[in-house]
Amino acid sequence: MHQQTLHQIPRIVVLISGGGSNLQALMDAIAEGVIDATIDLVISNTPDAKGLQRASKAGIPTQVVNHLEYSSREAFDRELIHAIDDKQPELVVLAGFMRIFTPQLTDHYHGRMLNIHPSLLPLFKGTNTHERALEAEVDQHGASVHFVTSELDGGPIVIQSLVPVLDEDSPTKLAARVLVQEHMIYPIAIKWFCEGRLNLSHDQVTMDGQPLPTQGLAYQA
Ligand code: GRF
Repeated sequence: MHQQTLHQIPRIVVLISGGGSNLQALMDAIAEGVIDATIDLVISNTPDAKGLQRASKAGIPTQVVNHLEYSSREAFDRELIHAIDDKQPELVVLAGFMRIFTPQLTDHYHGRMLNIHPSLLPLFKGTNTHERALEAEVDQHGASVHFVTSELDGGPIVIQSLVPVLDEDSPTKLAARVLVQEHMIYPIAIKWFCEGRLNLSHDQVTMDGQPLPTQGLAYQA
C-alpha cells in the first residue's frame, strides 16, 4: 500500500469568553479552504459562552477552564497551559478572550499566540474601546491583530483595518462596523501565520523575512 507522507497541517487552539464570532470567521475560513489548518480545541473561561456551541456544532472539541474555580491567576494559567499543550498547537488564537494572562503564560507562547483587539492599537488598549473612541472624537477607529506579549494589548501588530467614525455613531453602531472588519483581518493574519510567513523575534514582526511597520499592514477592504 502506498505510504501516505504525513503532511502535518498546523494545529490551532482557540480561546474564547463569549459569542465567538471571530471563532466562527476562522472556522468558516478553514471550511472554505482559505486556511489550511485544524482547530483541535476551543477553550472558554466561561461555561455559558455561545462560542462553545458554535464549536460543538462543527464537531470541534471544547473545554471550559473556569477562572472562578482557581484561587490565583497563576493557578488558572497553569491549567490553561496544560489544556492547550495537550493539543501541541502551532498557534493559539485569542478570539474575544477576556482574561489577563500572567507573564509565565505569555512567555510560554511567545511568537505563537495572536489576539484581535477592537481598536487601532496602540490607541485604546483595554476595554470599552468604542465608547472611548467616540469620547475622544477620533475620525478613525478600527481593529488590530497582534502577537500576544506580557504587555496587555501591547504586542507587535500584524494587520489593522481602519473604520471611519461617523457623526451619528453610537458605541453599538461603531462596534458592529469594527466587528465586520475583525472577521476580515483575523483569518488573513492566521492564514499568513499558518503558511509560515509571519515571524516574531525580539518583538519585531517579519513577513516573508521583511520587518512590518509598527502599525502592521493596513487592510484595504
Ligand atoms: C470583539 O470585538 C473582539 O474584538 C473582542 O470581543 C468582541 C467579541 O468577540 N475581543 P467574539 O464575537 O466573541 O469573537
